[in-house]
Amino acid sequence: MSSSIRFLMCAPDHYDVDYVINPWMEGNIHKSSRDRAVEQWQKLFHVLKEQAVVDLVQPQPGVPDMVFTANAGLVLGDTVVLSRFFHKERQGEEPFFKQWFESKGYTVHELPKDLPFEGAGDALLDREGRWLWAGYGFRSELDSHPYLAKWLDIEVLSLRLMDERFYHLDTCFCPLSGGYLLYYPPAFDSYSNRLIEMRVPAEKRIAIKEADAVNFACNAVNIDSVVVMNKASEDLKARLTKLGFQVIETPLTEFLKAGGAAKCLTLRVTEPVREEVHASTPVESRAVRMEGHLLDSGLINRALDAIVENGGSFQVLNFSLGEQRQSTSSAEVKVTAPSRDVMEEIISQLIDLGAVPRPQEVCDVNMEPVHQAGVAPDDFYVTTIYPTEVRVNCEWVKVQNQRMDGAIAVTFNSGSPVARCKLLRDLEVGEHVIVGIEGIRTIRKTESREQRNKQEFSFMSAGVSSERRVELVVEQVAWELRQVRDQGGKVVVTAGPVVIHTGGGEHLSQLIRQGYVQALLGGNAIAVHDIEQNMMGTSLGVDMKRGVAVQGGHRHHLKVINTIRRYGSIAKAVEQGVLQSGVMYECVRNNVPFCLAGSIRDDGPLPDTEMDLIKAQTEYARLLQGADMILMLSSMLHSIGVGNMTAAGVKMVCVDINPAVVTKLSDRGSVESVGVVTDVGLFLSLLVQQLDKLTSPYHLVQV
Ligand code: ARG
Repeated sequence: MSSSIRFLMCAPDHYDVDYVINPWMEGNIHKSSRDRAVEQWQKLFHVLKEQAVVDLVQPQPGVPDMVFTANAGLVLGDTVVLSRFFHKERQGEEPFFKQWFESKGYTVHELPKDLPFEGAGDALLDREGRWLWAGYGFRSELDSHPYLAKWLDIEVLSLRLMDERFYHLDTCFCPLSGGYLLYYPPAFDSYSNRLIEMRVPAEKRIAIKEADAVNFACNAVNIDSVVVMNKASEDLKARLTKLGFQVIETPLTEFLKAGGAAKCLTLRVTEPVREEVHASTPVESRAVRMEGHLLDSGLINRALDAIVENGGSFQVLNFSLGEQRQSTSSAEVKVTAPSRDVMEEIISQLIDLGAVPRPQEVCDVNMEPVHQAGVAPDDFYVTTIYPTEVRVNCEWVKVQNQRMDGAIAVTFNSGSPVARCKLLRDLEVGEHVIVGIEGIRTIRKTESREQRNKQEFSFMSAGVSSERRVELVVEQVAWELRQVRDQGGKVVVTAGPVVIHTGGGEHLSQLIRQGYVQALLGGNAIAVHDIEQNMMGTSLGVDMKRGVAVQGGHRHHLKVINTIRRYGSIAKAVEQGVLQSGVMYECVRNNVPFCLAGSIRDDGPLPDTEMDLIKAQTEYARLLQGADMILMLSSMLHSIGVGNMTAAGVKMVCVDINPAVVTKLSDRGSVESVGVVTDVGLFLSLLVQQLDKLTSPYHLVQV
């Protein structure tokens, strides 16, 4: 017996499942047997007494979970950090534990109120004393970890818990002597798993299966080579034995009903301090400011959710709520993250939401030179669709060519900085690329109070009313098309072959003829089927008037391709009078530029189809410049490509019969995109009708 080791336990005199604060307690209220609980507890007590000294704290009525002394606090040397329970049901235990520690002469530290931390349930010392593993996510707050590092002068490694069944770190994680670790990896997020793998070499990691995890095998008490637990599978026992451990099983089923087992029922109160280890906490924090209709637009919820979903935690430092409907609110939020990487991920998402550093924390961007053409430095800032500014030499510079998934390259033009969004492949040696998250802000209109556009319009889903909703969008789109045209603006259409198959070709042709379209983007197929329809009356061999397959029709599109190839281009075929109607014909006749981007499945292709994809992307981007509105007509691939090239602020209308496509395309986190789930042929016919109706008798527009 190592007499220097002591544990604290609390007899189950008042133990019961009285409330539900974890999933194990559900359905178990008053279902545990007091007699059996006492018997099981006694057994554990005796097992431990063989190995160590067990101190007892007086059980108290009204706090049934006080048996779980692991949650009393966290001890290191003669210092203890008292628990602050997350649930009010357990807060009543705090004074009794405090009293016990004080009576034993510990230096007691208490966390600020509202900063929960549940003691050794959520903080486990490496058994070699090298560092402290600390859990967060359910009960303890990440912000408590820096306090632990400070008061206990030890390095704290934060682990994020993801599975509510394993709400305390000690339910799924158990450091063992000799540097071993017994744990259940799926209980943690991937960042935490990586951290564990970095600190504990593979041969020392004993990952367990779910079947053992739900028997609380990780909730074990380890004293030298002895491991005491509720139950372990034969396989796990064999593995532990092989590594030199002696497994002692002692049933604790009555306590499992409250979500605890061996480790929870004990607190090791002798934890030697290693003089050479000192505090260090990778936990970082930073404060940001947000302004706007934070509540109406849901911006603040999104920001706070983004922090938590990515594994950080927050403290709202101040929030000033706008008094009137039109007054904006502002908030300052302190963000804490377990590491630099996580912090960067969180902050870049907050930047997208318009968050800026507090004035006192504003600083210049960090840049690194490009050493290899077409390759950015690691950690480069990935751009979004939102207008962005970067701070170089103490001034904010607007980023040009805003688009998503690029890097920001900075060059100096006779001393003054120029910042540009560039694709990775376009980066040149000698340019400087922005890395990290410092000195970057996106400009959100503070006046916007709209929520992210989540509505979709569907003919299919909800009968008559949704039909009316499609009509409403059509009315709105027609109105805007009209405005853009009359003001000399630019509308770009991306279209897939479905436009032709669904009979939309003639309507799109009309839109082009009437000056509503300034550029057309698509692939080989839309052009082929449009030309097939106009030269042969079929679309993919189907007679467009009768809707039936034509004898030999499957060869039609190849014949058409062959004909255009003979003339050299679509324009030449039009010139020669071979092609006399249709979408491509109207483009040529009305000088509407188009770009057909090729793909692996293209037949032919048409001479106009650009098979060099990089050239096609460049041409798409060129044609999109200055667009006021983009109509995306049933072409997922080309539309997504276009979406990626386009900065926020351009109105997008996405029409597709497949709701998943519409959701994907219109989910840009901004108001300017509208999704319409409907047949594209039908949509175009309604649109053309509505435009005809709009022709005002007062100012007749020349068409
Ligand atoms: N019913 C208790 C709770 O939910 C169980 C605590 C178990 N303790 C532990 N260290 N995991 O708080």
